[in-house]
Amino acid sequence: MPACTRDSTRAQAKRAWNLGNGLDTFAFIIHPIDAKRDVSRKFPFLGRVLSERQIDFFSTFFPPVYISEIEGITSQATGKEIKGWFIACPYTPRRMMELPERTVYRKIIQTGRLAEKLGAQILGLGAFTSVVGDAGITIANALDVPVTTGDSYTVMVAVDALREAARVMDIPFKRSTVAVVGATGAIGQVCTELLADEAERLYLIGRSQEKLEGLRDRLRVHARSELIVSAKMDVLESAQLILTVTSAIHDVIRPEFLQPGSVVCDVARPRDVSAMVAAVRDDILVIDGGMVDVPGPVDFHFNFGFPPGKAYACMAETIALALEGRFEDYTLGKHLTRERVEEVDAMAKKHGFRLSGFRSFEREVTEQQIETVRRNAKNARTLRAVRQ
Ligand SMILES: NC(=O)c1ccc[n+]([C@@H]2O[C@H](COP(=O)([O-])OP(=O)(O)OC[C@H]3O[C@@H](n4cnc5c(N)ncnc54)[C@H](OP(=O)(O)O)[C@@H]3O)[C@@H](O)[C@H]2O)c1
Repeated sequence: MPACTRDSTRAQAKRAWNLGNGLDTFAFIIHPIDAKRDVSRKFPFLGRVLSERQIDFFSTFFPPVYISEIEGITSQATGKEIKGWFIACPYTPRRMMELPERTVYRKIIQTGRLAEKLGAQILGLGAFTSVVGDAGITIANALDVPVTTGDSYTVMVAVDALREAARVMDIPFKRSTVAVVGATGAIGQVCTELLADEAERLYLIGRSQEKLEGLRDRLRVHARSELIVSAKMDVLESAQLILTVTSAIHDVIRPEFLQPGSVVCDVARPRDVSAMVAAVRDDILVIDGGMVDVPGPVDFHFNFGFPPGKAYACMAETIALALEGRFEDYTLGKHLTRERVEEVDAMAKKHGFRLSGFRSFEREVTEQQIETVRRNAKNARTLRAVRQ
């Protein structure tokens, strides 16, 4: 069968999936990131007795898990209420990187089938389930339910959070030096494209010099910023604002790389920023990227580590599409477009999603803490100047 015929047959099947289904619904796939902590949230006994390695091993044989029903989400624009479900793919990020791609696809597709059985009209892929392989394309092709990775809205929320953090730290964005770590990734590329319109100087950081240069050459035509590529992390010392979004399974940003008073917005899950940064650098603001307020009296009936009423941007994209009635494959693949990023942002704003306050390593960041970081940064800069 020619590809276009197969594609249109699949699109028809997806439309048919949504006919006569009554309630508007969504499902979102989560998975353990910090193995012991996250398994304990659903299975306290297993989380207590199994080691991280054992959880990794047993997750290979575990079936998809029903987590909870989500209720109360209500559009501020239309008053429409929807319901959803959290379902879990048992693999950890390490497992998803170690196992053959087709084994991982199979498990995510199996989890997607659970969403279909529940009656979901759109399915969101959380964390590494959207990173694996071709970023959702194979998964969407195998399922009847439409699929989105949530990456388009993640881009906009990450860039907005960096802008807001710059404002509270008195860093003038248009005169700033910004760095994107993981710049060649799906999310990193469009973040880089948006930031190249604003910053004075922009570092594109990644692992492959060749890919970085390709991205720089593509952006250079329209960019306002001076663009500099680097495959080394030590250039971070020049940046005041850092957006980090790699798919590394270990932290990549350590305290010695960072200049006093800088802001790091960490969008990656697992995190890119080492916990050591919080422990030893009280002159730096590290914020978790991608947290938004959800409209309506939402109850997730599951603690995924955020305060009540807040969600990851990728979850919010899935929910916004359900509120809008856009039951179609939306963000898929490694090449996101700015148009989609702007479209889903408008949709989310209309229904009442808002950038949430700052959190850092799962804790709220208070105004007092920001003030302390500013003061410590000023002292550290003075000390450096005296030493030089
Ligand atoms: N907070 C949220 O709401 C949210 C939503 C969606 C995704 N995420 C997270 O965002 C992250 C990125 O997702 P993505 O879809 O953009 O992934 P991706 O397309 O695979 O891109 C990942 C990027 O990270 C780079 N990278 C991988 N390992 C690295 C390492 N050890 N050191 C330095 N760079 C490394 C890759 O470089 P190469 O090009 O050399 O491979 C690539 O540029 C993931 O952690 C994911 O869980 C968060």
